[in-house]
Amino acid sequence: MQSLLNKKIVLGISGGIAAYKTPELARLLMQEGASVQVVMTEAAQQFVTPVTMQALTGNPVFTSQWDNSISNNMAHIELSRAADAIVIAPGSADLMAKLSLGLADDLLSTLCLARDCPLLIAPAMNKQMWEHAATQRSVERLRKDGVTLLGPASGFQACGEVGMGRMLEPSEIAEQVIAFFQKKTLLGKKVLITAGPTFEAIDPVRGVTNHSSGKMGFAIARAALEAGAQVHLVAGPCDLPTPLMATGLITRINVVSAKEMHAATLAVTDCDIFFAVAAVADWGIAKPAKEKIKRNGKEAPNIEFVANPDILLDFAKTVKTKGGKPHPYCVGFAAESADLEKHADEKRKRKGIPMIVGNIGPDTFGSDLNQLLVIDASGSKKIAKAEKLQLARQLIQLVAKKI
Ligand code: C5P
Repeated sequence: MQSLLNKKIVLGISGGIAAYKTPELARLLMQEGASVQVVMTEAAQQFVTPVTMQALTGNPVFTSQWDNSISNNMAHIELSRAADAIVIAPGSADLMAKLSLGLADDLLSTLCLARDCPLLIAPAMNKQMWEHAATQRSVERLRKDGVTLLGPASGFQACGEVGMGRMLEPSEIAEQVIAFFQKKTLLGKKVLITAGPTFEAIDPVRGVTNHSSGKMGFAIARAALEAGAQVHLVAGPCDLPTPLMATGLITRINVVSAKEMHAATLAVTDCDIFFAVAAVADWGIAKPAKEKIKRNGKEAPNIEFVANPDILLDFAKTVKTKGGKPHPYCVGFAAESADLEKHADEKRKRKGIPMIVGNIGPDTFGSDLNQLLVIDASGSKKIAKAEKLQLARQLIQLVAKKI
């Protein structure tokens, strides 16, 4: 399902070179189901044309407060009334200064002043302009007025300098706009997540691992962030991008072996919910060879395995009670090839955790789709087949109710 279905977004563009990325942002918002109405300042039209934006969005672009194509001749009122949010990208220093003072001398600034919907701005400017006390005053005032700032990031700038003030990438802005519309059921909560496989080295070039892609764990990380939580993600070897990284609300620790994952997870002492999603190898290699094992003759080497520590079991032993409820609240995952409900519930009891989530196979590995069986002391509940992000959002809502 698209994450911005039926959302009406006014996309404001002000004058800055980062405007060359805004057409891509419009496309990403539309791919998620939003309808996009573009409003451009005069300066913005020096960088990207209204024709480009009209062709992409399928809607005429508004550039003037004197536009008489709207029946009551009040574009600023009509456009802001219809919107679920106004997103401005790029937000220039000039526009931000104007908005922070409540000035309204063109269509975009006027409709921001006339709005009764949220305003999100992705600033973009040269680093000196961003760091200038006047801009920082605007930022502070805008935040106080309830405006959400998306970024900026630090990096290479069109002026040749490197520093703060770069507009976030369109994909990062879209990710944050999507997050903005999700229910904030975990506001202020801290969530710990293990994700992906582990890799147990046999020698420097070989090892034992499994089919876990990390997609489910990363989707839970994203859904938790969307719900307002701060996330600590302990990831086994997988090359997935860190979700919502630009928010600064996620820390990611990359590990390789189960032992490393155990140490990195048990080191976290302050969290409210723990999702153990990683497919941790049950056995590690007793004595990994320091050098590559040579193929001398035909004999296959005898590889001795040793049991790995059980991260979830050990973590669950540290759980205390807070307000009559287990704290942190632990959620395990189970992938079974037969009798899912029975085996998963046995696992839940053995590990001493309140909830376990069964992956209803067999085609979950690496797939963007999954279906889940959520089991706790009160019974089981199926979450129907959907994209992993949709399932993760539903699971987050279920867990939020428990804590
Ligand atoms: O491997 P098993 O089927 O027991 O995994 C069930 C749950 O336990 C999963 O949530 C998994 O992440 C967790 N687990 C763990 N440490 C292990 C093995 C599994 O945290 N060594």
